[in-house]
Amino acid sequence: MKHVFLLALVIAFWEAPPVVTGISPVTVGVLNYLQGNLNLTVHCKSKDNDLGIHVLPVYGRYQWQINPNVLKTSVFSCSLSMRDGSLSYDIYSYERDHNRCPTECVWDVKTEGLVGLSEDVAQPNIFVKWPGHAN
Ligand SMILES: *[C@@H]1O[C@H](CO)[C@@H](O)[C@H](O)[C@H]1NC(C)=O
Repeated sequence: MKHVFLLALVIAFWEAPPVVTGISPVTVGVLNYLQGNLNLTVHCKSKDNDLGIHVLPVYGRYQWQINPNVLKTSVFSCSLSMRDGSLSYDIYSYERDHNRCPTECVWDVKTEGLVGLSEDVAQPNIFVKWPGHAN
């Protein structure tokens, strides 16, 4: 009887091997924190993927996940535009970001510019000004 129990236990463990996750997907988010109730238009692309055009109202959030299979080669460049300006920037780059924001790379889009939030306190946020913005 004891052996049967033991056998059942062993099989139970065989049936449920530890999940080998490897790399987890990364979530990339863009939030509209522009003053003056301005829409933000976001259009992101990688080499193989066009994520389409998204218009975010104030406090709107657009986000997507990067599949682990393509993560290590991923660069997503986004065109961002609002009433007073537009720019293109690499919103996600594995090279730059895999330590800075290993699970969630969030950008707050403000009137002064974009702030790329780092999950690791030892690494600074990234700040990108809108072209032509005074400070
Ligand atoms: C913001 O976008 C919404 C939805 O596309 C649109 O209805 C609205 O007129 C836009 N507002 C401005 C100020 O452009």
